[in-house]
Amino acid sequence: MTVTRRYKFAASHRLHAARFSESENFELYGKCNNPHGHGHDYLLEVSVSGPLDAKSGQVVNVAALDRLVAKQVIEDFDSRYLNMDVREFQSVIPTSENILGVIEDRLQAGWRATFPAGPRLASIRLRETRRNLFELKAS
Ligand code: NI
Repeated sequence: MTVTRRYKFAASHRLHAARFSESENFELYGKCNNPHGHGHDYLLEVSVSGPLDAKSGQVVNVAALDRLVAKQVIEDFDSRYLNMDVREFQSVIPTSENILGVIEDRLQAGWRATFPAGPRLASIRLRETRRNLFELKAS
């Protein structure tokens, strides 16, 4: 069974690759290349899979999941300029694809300690705008 929990954070970013020219950057990233950054209200969905625990009648301890996501992601990402305030994005361009990769790494890093007997992280989705939704199946 799979359970999905939703979280929100607001963050700003700038998509810019030093290896490309100004016009190439604009072609690749459009408005997200604006020099002074801009914000998004991100919606993050975390899906967790595992067997139904007969004692609790649940697949996942939701409060424990909330604490893990808050500690590993929301506290560091919310109301921040990702390019400078989040260590990983000092060397990685904060596209939604890369943000998902970083979020997966951060969740997996604390997963075993939070859920020693399961469940497992199944997938995460990030909605950047009404038109952009990104999904990563956890490895
Ligand atoms: Ni953007």
